[in-house]
Amino acid sequence: MTEQLIIFDTTLRDGEQSPGASMTKDEKVRIARQLERLRVDVIEAGFAAASPGDFEAVRAVAESIKDSTVCSLARATEKDIRTAGEAVAPAAKKRIHTFIATSPIHMEKKLRMSPDQVVEAAVAAVKFAGQFTDDVEFSAEDAVRSDIDFLIRVFGEVIKAGARTINVPDTVGYSVPGQWGDRMAQLIAKTPGAKNVVWSTHCHNDLGMAVANSLQAVLAGARQVECTINGLGERAGNASLEEIVMAVKTRKDVFGCDSNIDTSQIVPASRLVSQITGYPVQPNKAIVGANAFAHESGIHQDGVLKHRETYEIMRAEDVGWTANRIVLGKLSGRNAFRQRLQAIGIELESEQALNEAFARFKELADRKSEIFDEDLQALVMGEVEEKDDKFKLVSLAQHSEMGEKPVSKVVFSIDGKEVASESQGNGPVDATVRAIEHQVKSGAELLLFSVNAITTGTESQGEVTMRLSKDGRIVNGMGADPDIVVASARAYLNALNRLATAPKANPQQP
Ligand code: KIV
Ligand code: ZN
Repeated sequence: MTEQLIIFDTTLRDGEQSPGASMTKDEKVRIARQLERLRVDVIEAGFAAASPGDFEAVRAVAESIKDSTVCSLARATEKDIRTAGEAVAPAAKKRIHTFIATSPIHMEKKLRMSPDQVVEAAVAAVKFAGQFTDDVEFSAEDAVRSDIDFLIRVFGEVIKAGARTINVPDTVGYSVPGQWGDRMAQLIAKTPGAKNVVWSTHCHNDLGMAVANSLQAVLAGARQVECTINGLGERAGNASLEEIVMAVKTRKDVFGCDSNIDTSQIVPASRLVSQITGYPVQPNKAIVGANAFAHESGIHQDGVLKHRETYEIMRAEDVGWTANRIVLGKLSGRNAFRQRLQAIGIELESEQALNEAFARFKELADRKSEIFDEDLQALVMGEVEEKDDKFKLVSLAQHSEMGEKPVSKVVFSIDGKEVASESQGNGPVDATVRAIEHQVKSGAELLLFSVNAITTGTESQGEVTMRLSKDGRIVNGMGADPDIVVASARAYLNALNRLATAPKANPQQP
């Protein structure tokens, strides 16, 4: 019999802990809506107590999502749990996920608490969370380096206190599959009350084994996997949702379970997360990389043409790959534009937002004859981005000639006031960034500059990511335009806008 595997997506919480991947409220709601279309069971929308902005974002997700359970993380304190409870209150289905560290190193050096105090705090946290919802999850942070008998004791106590899901995290990505599976099997066999709860696994990818460890835990009896789109997450990332889902689906014979996921929404989810966070997907990434279904060798191509299954174990269409189909052009009207946005899951807040997006679409269609879904996504991202921004691009003129130093003249606004700035540079992008910096004087360090073609052909829009670092904070800025110098200016200003917003707390810090 096939059992159900619960997919708990933490892109909006652990994923957001990747350097520079911090998301605004609107961005979180857009991703949450896509996660709902993907039919994930639980959306961890954030860590509500981290800041007022995080609280608002979790609450906004709780207000917009109907089908998936909406969850907030909370440390094992009354203040964190109350804030999480208030943030998820509007959700149709809500969960509080509370955690405390259980390894000797974390208890002694980070928490400065004795094991008895940790058990007491864990039990009190679960009981208190139960006042806000019946659906309480408990995690033993750094379970991988915790004493197994102590874990059994903590888990037994929190089950008695009302926890419904017990999550076992490999917080530091230290485990290997055989060991992780054994640990899960022992916990399920020895914890009092184990049969009354769902066992969950949460693995980090420091040694590249997050997916393998999670799947081994599933074989040992875990029925919830915590994962993220594109494997986004703290340091080397979390287990990747698309790989877990497709592994259990493709190898049902091995795992004996399946998920509720609508796999045709995987690629759109991957693209959206990549666009919003500024984390490009490597071409050879399983399932969602551009080359994941491309056959290069003649022997493979010949085999696939004769009989697909000779070299393919999954169908590209089943995970949402479509050839870039032309969807709109310059003669398309406002209604066709609105309908196409709805079809790809983009809902704009107001008629004014739709009108603004439509005006930008017309502008783009004048310069690019074929508009694909990917173009629409990038275009709408630009619209949403610009609403409350401190820095906005007004115009850009740039001149380059072989053998000459390029010059860029940028007009942009700072808090609504227009400024013009001109600079030379090594290349057109360098000149543009120098012109902006000449006025802003942010002093930020550029850590990464990357350009990707959104679709195929030289007519494609360029999507630029700029990663900036300042005072220990890292942010990613994104911009898209058929002119990659304009896209670069947008990306740089977008990163400056992100630096101008308040930093967030990290839930793994005390
Ligand atoms: O990695 C971890 O331990 C976590 C917990 C808070 C679940 O993210
Ligand atoms: Zn984690």
